[in-house]
Formats: sequence, structure tokens, C-alpha cells
Amino acid sequence: MRVLGIETTCDETAAAVVAWRPDGRGDILSNIVLSQFAAHAPFGGVVPEIAARAHVEALEQIVDRAMGDAGLDFADLDGVAAAAGPGLIGGVMVGLTAGKAIALAAQKPFSAVNHLEAHALTARLTDGVAFPYLLLLVSGGHTQLIAVRGVGDYARLGTTLDDAVGEAFDKCGKMLGLPWPGGPNIEKTALQGDPRRFDFPRPMMGRPAPDFSLSGLKTSVRQTIEKLSPLSPAVTADVCASFQAAIVDMLIDRTRMAMAVFAIASPGHPVPNALVVAGGVAANGAIRSALQRLSAQSGVKLVLPPPNLCTDNGAMIAWAGIERLRAGLEDGLDFAARPRWPLDPAAPLSPTGKA
Ligand code: KG4
Ligand code: ZN
Repeated sequence: MRVLGIETTCDETAAAVVAWRPDGRGDILSNIVLSQFAAHAPFGGVVPEIAARAHVEALEQIVDRAMGDAGLDFADLDGVAAAAGPGLIGGVMVGLTAGKAIALAAQKPFSAVNHLEAHALTARLTDGVAFPYLLLLVSGGHTQLIAVRGVGDYARLGTTLDDAVGEAFDKCGKMLGLPWPGGPNIEKTALQGDPRRFDFPRPMMGRPAPDFSLSGLKTSVRQTIEKLSPLSPAVTADVCASFQAAIVDMLIDRTRMAMAVFAIASPGHPVPNALVVAGGVAANGAIRSALQRLSAQSGVKLVLPPPNLCTDNGAMIAWAGIERLRAGLEDGLDFAARPRWPLDPAAPLSPTGKA
């Protein structure tokens, strides 16, 4: 089975072709990602209207390149998948409409993919991980711990009550005057700093429900910056290192708690087959190392897809389409774009809607 996947929910215009392999993993035949980084950087964040227009301009070429790299025509495909949400609605409509049009013209089955489900299933594309497993999803828009029990079968164990982790990195980077996005720049600057210089708060640590809260940490970083301003490069590095250390401690504590309560969501299989990490923040070296230590201590295997499959891409959409079509889950061409689309519909709304 070979499926074209289209991703336009945020600031990456992406398309890829993935083939199903008999061993249950995927072969990535092509994977084209165009980042709109330069278009948004002057504004210090993603501007939805600019993103939607940029998707319109780029998508046809990106799909052409993905098909060309795979050496296939639309007629050779077994399905077309497009992310239908959650995300910035203008961009979502661009990719979703393009995917439907290709499916209609080529007379292929269509799959409307939940972007979060695509992140969740990437570890099966790369490593063939068997259900159930624990997913830590940490991106600019989402911070969640999810029990992945099967295709379309998710239980949210924890979520952020305010900011996403990537958002906290980006906001702190902005306060420190670092270039956007803050995440990779804070990581780089932190290498020169002392992680023990500032004892920033680690909200929610030790709480039995594996939820997150980032706003107290953010406020504390802002107050420290205001108190010490103007910051020397050495102090900036210490703030970055201390902030990152607080994030690492919180992520590890909350993930350990999610492992402890995993059985509630999966009584028949109480220990997850793996701890799987996804989202742009998973590119962070300090976080990756800490998760490796947690995995060694807990005996739960860690699956960290390569950074280019942790950040937004078309291959994860194509793979989710393959998994859904193989499960007999085809979608109609009337499927509407969804700005909000929680993976676990039974989970309560988080206060900021970042569920
Ligand atoms: O998954 P992603 O590419 O886009 C979505 O948010 O959907 O994640 C982007 C986020 C940004 O907040 C960025 O600052 C963060 O991931 N990020 C990092 C690193 N690289 C990207 N955060 C911390 N350390 C990094 N090395
Ligand atoms: Zn994403």
C-alpha cells in the first residue's frame, strides 16, 4: 500500500509518499518539508494568515516533488491522506482541499488524518512498536501524555493546564532577546550556562495526575530577567540552563507518573511496550538524555524517532493514512477541517483548549 500524505496545519508545507512493509513498518519513498520559518521570523511567531497564503503558494510544487522523488504518478497510489486538524484553520483547509481534489481526480480512497494521531503513530512507521505504548507529545502547540491503545483508540493521561512546553521555550527565548524560535536557541545558549544558578519553580511535580503547568516557571524567569537586566551573556546562559533544567525535571517527573497510572487506561496490558516521544521539543538533547535515563531506570524501551520525523512532516500523515485505510477507516470528501480535534474525546477540555 502506497499513500501520499499532506501536512499544512501550522508553518510547514509538507508532502510525502510512504509504503507499507509486510513487517508492519513503513518505507518513506519521499519526504518533502518546506519550512515557512523566514516568513514568520520577523514577527517572532507564526502568523496564521501568512501561513495559509504560503501553503497555497507552495503546496502544488511540494506535492509534485514528493511524487517525483517517489517515482510515482497519482494513479500508482493506493490512497491520499491529508491532515484535517487540529491546527490553524486557513492552512488546514489548503492541504485538506488539495488532498480531496487529488483523491477525487485519481479515484483513490481518502483519509482525513488527525495531526496528533499522526505524531502518535510515527513510532510504528519507524520502529514497528506494538500497541499499547505511552506517548509524550511535546511541541509548540501541545504537551500531552497519551496511552496509545490502537489506531483511533487513545486515552489522555495528562495535558498542560496553560502553555505548551515549546511555547514556554519560545516565550522565554523572546524575553531573553534570543532569535525565534526560542527552543533550539535556548538549548544552544544553555550549553555555556550553569543549570544550578537559578532555582526556578517546577510546578505540578509530585502531583498524582500527570498534568503540566508552565506559567509559574515562565513568570519566575521573567522576574529574574527584570531584576538582573541588562543581562550579560554569562547570566543569559545561566538563565537558559536553569530554565531547561526545570523543564527536564518536570517532563521526567510527569512522564514517570504517567507510567505509574498507565494501567488505569490499559488494564489488560498495564505496562507500556515503549515510551514514545514526538513533537519539535523532542529534538532537545538535554531532554533526550534525561528520557534515556528514565527508560533505563524503568525498563520501558524508549523510542525517539529522528528529529525530522518528530517535527511536522508529511510522512507521518501518509503513515497515519496507511494505518487508518488498512483498518478500513476511509473518509468522505465532505470531511470538514477541524481547528480543535482532541485525540481522546472523553478527556475534559483543558482550560486553554490545548487538548
Ligand atoms: O512540532 P513542532 O515542529 O511544531 C509544532 O508546534 O507543531 O514544534 C515546534 C516547537 C517550537 O516551540 C520550538 O521552539 C520547539 O519545538 N523546539 C525545541 C527545540 N527544537 C524545536 N525546543 C527545545 N529544544 C529544541 N532543540
Ligand atoms: Zn505537530
